[in-house]
Amino acid sequence: MRTSYVSNRQKLGQFFTPERITDFIISFLDADTTSILELGCGEGTFGKSALSRFPNMNYVGVELDRKWHKLAIGKIPEKSVLLGDALSMRTFRKLQHCAPFSAAIGNPPYTRHILNSNSLSQIYRAFPSIRTIPINKLSRLDLAFLAASLSLIQRGGVLAFILPKTFFSDPGFRMFRQDLVKRYQCDFVAELDSATFEGIEVDTTFLLLRNQAPTINNVRLGKVNLEGEVVADLSVSFSSAIDRMDFSHYKLLQELNLADESSMLRLADVVQDFQRGSLSKIEFVKMGREHFHTTDFPSDFDEIDFGDASEISGVHARAGDILVPRVGSRCLLRQAIVQRGGRSITDCIYRIRPNEGFAETILQSLQHEIGQRWRQAHARGTCAKYLTVTDIMQMPLIT
Ligand SMILES: C[S@@+](CC[C@H](N)C(=O)[O-])C[C@H]1O[C@@H](n2cnc3c(N)ncnc32)[C@H](O)[C@@H]1O
Repeated sequence: MRTSYVSNRQKLGQFFTPERITDFIISFLDADTTSILELGCGEGTFGKSALSRFPNMNYVGVELDRKWHKLAIGKIPEKSVLLGDALSMRTFRKLQHCAPFSAAIGNPPYTRHILNSNSLSQIYRAFPSIRTIPINKLSRLDLAFLAASLSLIQRGGVLAFILPKTFFSDPGFRMFRQDLVKRYQCDFVAELDSATFEGIEVDTTFLLLRNQAPTINNVRLGKVNLEGEVVADLSVSFSSAIDRMDFSHYKLLQELNLADESSMLRLADVVQDFQRGSLSKIEFVKMGREHFHTTDFPSDFDEIDFGDASEISGVHARAGDILVPRVGSRCLLRQAIVQRGGRSITDCIYRIRPNEGFAETILQSLQHEIGQRWRQAHARGTCAKYLTVTDIMQMPLIT
């Protein structure tokens, strides 16, 4: 029983939105909302919040898992919740009878599945710039739920969704963001606290949009606390929003007083070569070869002595190189400069080879609040954290 709960939890992306957050999200819907769709409604908390604000509205939820469907119909009228696959043609036809909805809400599963042709065409219709979804390969269900919901709401209708932060910060989602701001009226994009969901640390974002062409040229970004309150917000242009829509990035630029970005010296300006290790720690261990991994960063100083150079091959660090973690949790903010010797590095490490005379500037900038907070704010990944080359190369330097 426990096993099936655990595996379903992972397989179906089951983590549930607390009521204070569902109440908060429902508060953004129009006062004249008459019908709401929720694909993947879980235990029905969103539906309960929606019905308490709009008692006479027509709510339709869909849930695949019998266990959560049963819990949902304990909270909301049984006829409001369909048991089935939200993306099947069978369900879609049933939903079309009730469409168009005034609003769609939800927190879809952040998992992958092979999508049917209907889901693929819904994605292409909603986000035509996305051209890279392979047929018969696992694809993102959250994106498919988003597109399906958009296809079922009325023109001018509201979509209020919780999505992984990756959609709003990852370079791979640039085309998605471009369509988002150019095709829809993106009213609010707000980071939720990573402790919002019980039992799981996950970086998510609340997206509020209207299914119509944009009427203004900027996007409001914000941060929501655990109580479901907006604690800070700011506004960014479309071109910035396409680049990234994560509030913490812009907030950091503001706080560090880095508004004049054009005159700023960045890591990319003073780097001769930037490499990532090519082999994993496991591969090094299997080959019995010495290597430098994220767990080898010294915790109390930033200099490493690899001793007399042993036999090194592949991507390696030598004296004068600066190493930073690419992946990790607590270690992500470390750095070290190689004083002597050389060693191969794993694929979790970036090697920075500075331009002559810039090693000290780079090291000090990494150690400085700017380097620490830059990496903290740009760490990507919904659960495991990583830094991209683009983000780290854009790190401002203290001069
Ligand atoms: C992240 S949970 C969120 C549940 C709920 N919306 C909330 O915010 O509390 C996603 C839900 O989608 C359900 N689900 C996953 N795949 C589904 C599918 N193909 N059709 C319908 N529901 C699905 C899961 O069982 C889970 O209850």
